[in-house]
Amino acid sequence: MRLFTLILALIFSLGSSSGYKFLMILNSPGRSHFNVGHALAKGLVQAGHEITVASVFPLKKPIPGYHDIYIPNVINAMRGDLAGLWASIQKSVTQKLIDHYQMGFRLTRALFEEPNFQELLKSNKSFDAIICETFYNDAHYGLAEHFKAPLIGLSTGGGLTFITDMVGSPAPASFVPHIMLPFNDHMTLFERLANVAFLAYERLLLDYYYLPGQEQLYQEFFPDNKQSFYEMRRNASLVLINQHVSLSFPRPYAPNMVEVGGMHIDGKLSPLPERIERFLNESEHGVIYFSMGSNLKSKDLPPAKVQEILKAFRGLKQRVLWKFELEDLPNKPDNVYISDWFPQTDILAHPKVLAFATHGGMLSTTESIYHGKPVIGLPIFSDQFFNMAHAEQTGYGIMLDFKALKAQDFRAAIERITSEPSYAEVVRGMSFRYRDQQHTPLENAVYWVEHVTRHQGAAYLKSAAQRLNWWQYHNADVLLILFAVVIFTIILLPYVILRLLTKLVLGEKKTQGGKVKLN
Ligand SMILES: *[C@@H]1O[C@H](CO)[C@@H](O)[C@H](O)[C@H]1NC(C)=O
Ligand SMILES: *[C@@H]1O[C@H](CO)[C@@H](O)[C@H](O)[C@H]1NC(C)=O
Ligand SMILES: *[C@@H]1O[C@H](CO)[C@@H](O)[C@H](O)[C@H]1NC(C)=O
Repeated sequence: MRLFTLILALIFSLGSSSGYKFLMILNSPGRSHFNVGHALAKGLVQAGHEITVASVFPLKKPIPGYHDIYIPNVINAMRGDLAGLWASIQKSVTQKLIDHYQMGFRLTRALFEEPNFQELLKSNKSFDAIICETFYNDAHYGLAEHFKAPLIGLSTGGGLTFITDMVGSPAPASFVPHIMLPFNDHMTLFERLANVAFLAYERLLLDYYYLPGQEQLYQEFFPDNKQSFYEMRRNASLVLINQHVSLSFPRPYAPNMVEVGGMHIDGKLSPLPERIERFLNESEHGVIYFSMGSNLKSKDLPPAKVQEILKAFRGLKQRVLWKFELEDLPNKPDNVYISDWFPQTDILAHPKVLAFATHGGMLSTTESIYHGKPVIGLPIFSDQFFNMAHAEQTGYGIMLDFKALKAQDFRAAIERITSEPSYAEVVRGMSFRYRDQQHTPLENAVYWVEHVTRHQGAAYLKSAAQRLNWWQYHNADVLLILFAVVIFTIILLPYVILRLLTKLVLGEKKTQGGKVKLN
């Protein structure tokens, strides 16, 4: 298989002597985000292009045509945010949004101040397109003008407003809930009200807090750019979004916003480490895989929470694999296996694994669906509530309240998800339809990146919405005029008619009275 890809890559690189040069910025230090960008980078190299990737995960084994720019500064900028992740569950969603923007300012500046990155800026390197992760870092998009190349956004999460803004993707508030709210596309009147209110709140924060802050960074670090910050960020050629309709619900997109959800899943499986495989093989009643992802470390949980979770697992028929980052876990029952790392894909693919207890981030959710495993959701932040609300609505998962998690609730969820066949049936159906795509998500992503590069930014795809301000976009000016006409008709017209009538009657009286004085 590997040889085959190699030969394929060779044929591609021979066939297209005009391979492109790409710059990819992956500024979020999370491993899961990196995996998405890395999959695309490797896909582009295999298609015969050259890529320079700025990230905190330099390659261990070099790949020809793949160049690293190591940006460790970014790790320090986010250290505090990562340490506070568990605690963030206590915060309101309105506060979390502000926290994200502040984290964004730190991350954006950290990349700009990274010596390796400054070296790149000052170099005479040229690129055919800039692929920039869209992670609260709008000022970075100025790289496109700096290198005189089209801008491509890569959203490793869902479609937040500052991302859909880049290409003018419509997001009707009546059936597209904000991805930080636990709603789905069928909203009650109250939910719609909350959605509209939250979107309005976000818009205000964006326009008066987040974007002006990013604008300052843009002006500070791209003093030679001619385009204004606002022109620049509404001039993206393409946005790739880590989502797919089979995993969520139908919603409209601009034609240059393309769903490539799951492009980090290559479907290839590796043999499991022997100890883990034996633990899975020898389980009589199956296994629950429990991991809160790469950023939320179980070792940082309050001890009382850890004991509560262990209480849920103790005496369970099933075995449990728990991503727990310490060697020793006191009171650990025999049916629980801990490790600081698990080959997640290979584990989810194992037939003995019955369900995935997860924070419900988009990447974990997609992997679980791909392998047809139902989820027990313990959402903490970002789009996790939204994803898990969708899992409940669709019937492939159970959402629990992590803040108030009690052993019996966790246990009841495990018992329900392993005993009621409907969860597994629903998720197998989702897996089937997700895999039934004309091209793999990665092939699709590579095609679209090549397409907009080949067409020098594909201006023909850029929606006219990008040149409108908000009142033009929503036709507020037109509605105002129509409203004025209606008001005029309702209030003023009877008055005018009355005046005319009285004039007529009075006028007639005057003529009846004899002479009419003409001025
Ligand atoms: C770019 O700069 C390097 C040195 O930093 C130099 O060797 C090379 O010739 C330059 N290339 C162009 C096209 O100016
Ligand atoms: C937008 O991007 C294109 C390249 O994709 C560039 O040629 C153009 O100057 C940019 N600015 C505006 C305002 O269109
Ligand atoms: C686990 O079971 C599979 C299938 O029965 C078998 O091929 C594999 O060798 C077993 N592995 C271990 C470590 O027992």
